[in-house]
Amino acid sequence: MVPFDVYPLWDIEPVRGEGCYLYDKSGVRYLDFYGGHAVISVGHAHPRYVQRITEQLHRLAFYSNAVQNSLQKQLAERLGHASGYPHFALFLCNSGAEANENAIKLASFDTGKKKVLAFSKAFHGRTSGAVAATDNPKILAPFNRTPNVEFIPLNDVEAVEQKLKTGEFCAAIIEGIQGVGGILLPDDPFLQQLSERCRAHGVRLILDEIQSGYGRSGKFFAHQWAGIEPDLITTAKGMANGFPIGGVLISPAFKPLHGMLGTTFGGAHLACAAALAVLEIFEEEHILGNVADMGALLMNELRALPGVKELRGRGLIVGIEMEKPAGELRKKLLFEHKIFTGAAGAHVIRLLPPLCIGRQQVSELMAALRAVVENEKTLTKQPA
Ligand SMILES: Cc1ncc(COP(=O)(O)O)c(C=O)c1O
Repeated sequence: MVPFDVYPLWDIEPVRGEGCYLYDKSGVRYLDFYGGHAVISVGHAHPRYVQRITEQLHRLAFYSNAVQNSLQKQLAERLGHASGYPHFALFLCNSGAEANENAIKLASFDTGKKKVLAFSKAFHGRTSGAVAATDNPKILAPFNRTPNVEFIPLNDVEAVEQKLKTGEFCAAIIEGIQGVGGILLPDDPFLQQLSERCRAHGVRLILDEIQSGYGRSGKFFAHQWAGIEPDLITTAKGMANGFPIGGVLISPAFKPLHGMLGTTFGGAHLACAAALAVLEIFEEEHILGNVADMGALLMNELRALPGVKELRGRGLIVGIEMEKPAGELRKKLLFEHKIFTGAAGAHVIRLLPPLCIGRQQVSELMAALRAVVENEKTLTKQPA
């Protein structure tokens, strides 16, 4: 048997990680400005993280959700405190898509309705409901096509009102910052109006913070820049620094019923230990403050980069929209300068580094970016 070939792969195999760097088997070092797709929050192989998981593994890796698990309670309490949502409840699952499935299900149970309002360029995952609310027909199988999801443009308050007043919607789902779509920010006043319209029409507001949350924007969740409080918040990626976990933060307006939601693996001991380690490190190392400082430094430096059409983002979720396609540039960053970055479409370079990057890593990236951009300029100036 071989792996099912669904991923276009770089011909590089990292075998070890440390902080913001990865190493291949020949010892070549790579700077990680991609974070394995916004997953690495506290850095590769953080000693406290490794120790916490190792100790838990020796004690108990897993038992089912049919017994008491005080690690789940500790995680809920710590996450409530760290995120500013101590009054919410936590449902744990295993991935971002699964978190969105559960959030949509809760909204539908709660309102007795079945339609979901989503936004153009949205990405919410690849499972049934999550992919239906994703604005990409290429990844939608016929089975996933449903009239229950409608899309409207981002930042269009009037379109929100037109849809919600039909009374057919159980939920509106929106990313704190659209990641896969190209680092597109909902305006703060738009989020405030969306929240207010949802409340007025009895529609549950789901904030997908899977990519933009867990400190990445400089606040715990990106929607907190707009000062709103959604009904449901979904999280995954940075939550356990690479250990698979997802979660739904649920407002006290939802009343749980036994059997309403469930999972075999969600909230198991090892995953909780990994997620607790991340929150402990957040506190000890003032990760949110670092994101704000390094995000400001990065944006400031990027403003002076030639060839940039638009810079978007907050904290350490940054989109550099280049005037020309950015594919070659990213290849040079990777193969000549040994720096991983992400992409969104043809023109956007996506930066999603570990949240613990420092000045040294920002200067390394900037030196490489300047070199590749200057090099491209010289090449295009040369006579044919
Ligand atoms: C905003 C957003 N929602 C949901 C998902 C899906 O998460 P997962 O791949 O863990 O299912 C992603 C993944 O990239 C995402 O960026």
